[in-house]
Amino acid sequence: MAAATTLSQSPKREAFGSRNVFILSAIGSAVGLGNIWRFPYVAYEGGGGAFLIPYLCALLTAGIPLLFFDYAIGHRFRGSAPLAFRRIHRAAEPLGWWQVLICVVIAVYYAVIIAWAAMYTWFSAQLSWGPGNEEAFFGIDFLQSEDVGEVGLSSTFVPQVGIPLAVVWVVVVVIMALGVKRGIGVANMILMPLLTVMFAALVVQSLFLPGAMEGLNAFFTPNWTALADPAVWASAYGHIFFSLSVAFGIMVTYSSYLKRKTDLTGSGLVVAFANSGFEILAGIGVFAALGFMAQAQGVEVAGVASSGIGLAFVAFPTIVSQATGGSIIGVLFFGALVFAGITSLISILEVIVAALQDKLGWGRVRTTLTVSIPLAIISMALFSTTTALTVLDTTDAFVNAFGIMAVALVAVIVVAWLLHKLPQLQEHLNRRSSFRVGILWRLLVAAVAPIVLGYLFITGLIEKIAEPYSGYPVWFLGVFGWGMAIALVVFAILLSLVPWSSRSHAKDDDEYDEFLADEHYDPDPETAALRLPVAEQRGDIA
Ligand code: ALA
Repeated sequence: MAAATTLSQSPKREAFGSRNVFILSAIGSAVGLGNIWRFPYVAYEGGGGAFLIPYLCALLTAGIPLLFFDYAIGHRFRGSAPLAFRRIHRAAEPLGWWQVLICVVIAVYYAVIIAWAAMYTWFSAQLSWGPGNEEAFFGIDFLQSEDVGEVGLSSTFVPQVGIPLAVVWVVVVVIMALGVKRGIGVANMILMPLLTVMFAALVVQSLFLPGAMEGLNAFFTPNWTALADPAVWASAYGHIFFSLSVAFGIMVTYSSYLKRKTDLTGSGLVVAFANSGFEILAGIGVFAALGFMAQAQGVEVAGVASSGIGLAFVAFPTIVSQATGGSIIGVLFFGALVFAGITSLISILEVIVAALQDKLGWGRVRTTLTVSIPLAIISMALFSTTTALTVLDTTDAFVNAFGIMAVALVAVIVVAWLLHKLPQLQEHLNRRSSFRVGILWRLLVAAVAPIVLGYLFITGLIEKIAEPYSGYPVWFLGVFGWGMAIALVVFAILLSLVPWSSRSHAKDDDEYDEFLADEHYDPDPETAALRLPVAEQRGDIA
């Protein structure tokens, strides 16, 4: 009897403890590797001080409007990405799975960079690389990288990467298994204040290094001619999506865990400006340190500024070797990368876990383990081997930069143009929000975003077709680049065809029905359809 009662009651959807925990978790997701190692260089390349103009335009015209778009979808339709899109329209479910699969790919390599940063926190304390040997140490001693031409059978396991990577996976699995409130919420409440303090200490320490002002001059001196270059605008728009964690399911999922009566747009503005504040602070800290490095080597800042992996794992270790108190700078920088990375990685994994929980009706621990163990094995198999760098670079370029833009473009076209849902989403956003959105928001989402995204997508496509990315072998790009990007779309469609399990929470979602009734929304036809037997869902039974 008791068992029957338990079975017939649908489990409650998880929720964040409070709006503040949600805001902290959303900032935790947004502030990640993208802010610390990507933004400073993108900004510098894009005209330094002048870059702030395209950056702010991208933030205001695409980043924040699409952040609101994601919040509205997740909060109004109260589900993981596939469920929320399914509730918008049955045919839109593949969009959610596409976002889930993008997260699968990103999670696999994001974890690796966190593992590297964890090892470098330790190496910084010991100055393990030896002065002048930073580049060789990273590529040869640490990663044991090999030429891409030799990719394949010659790949061997590299324990100094594989073991910390396993530890990263164990940490995130524990956080995820504890659930949204006790796991994700608590982890962000601990890690985000720590990250802020560490980062502030790093920036202050960097500003006191000799040569810091030269670095800041290089960073902030505007190069106005850069503004005439469309590629600079493209890089500002391209950066903002990844940085804000917009358009790949994260904010849809997180906002589905928000209490019903929440100020959505107010929260979104706090998250967006906190993320940008962090990014600009990272630019100041990184360029102050690069200014020191340039002065120590008697060269221009331009000669030492490098992007991403080179900046974090070659330039920063050089600064650590040369500066007084360098070990502290190193521990703060790499420690900050680890914390920022973990709070983002859990949000990326949550997209996948929530989707499977919704579709299959499994419990939290079972879903977390089913998702994480294969991902951990793939990430160890691909990235603890000697071909790590090239695989990482290729998947990052195709799935992250390119895939996110493509899914954002299709989502906006489907929701705004084909399904005409923007007025409904606007109404939902404005119900409880302090900052009301109007026609301008609809215009930005329905017109400006598709134009910009369409332009970025087509130019990116032409560029990638015209010459092999980074000069890598064609077969390699075919598998890890094009193959991966196209496979995600195919698998997304296939996953949407898998029937919703009879145990799925979505089939018996009393909370959702209550929410619709409380808000005086019409009953949801898709949720009703999900309740029908599978054959009827397909239309086999009249
Ligand atoms: N938004 C996260 C980052 O910037 C994913 O790294």
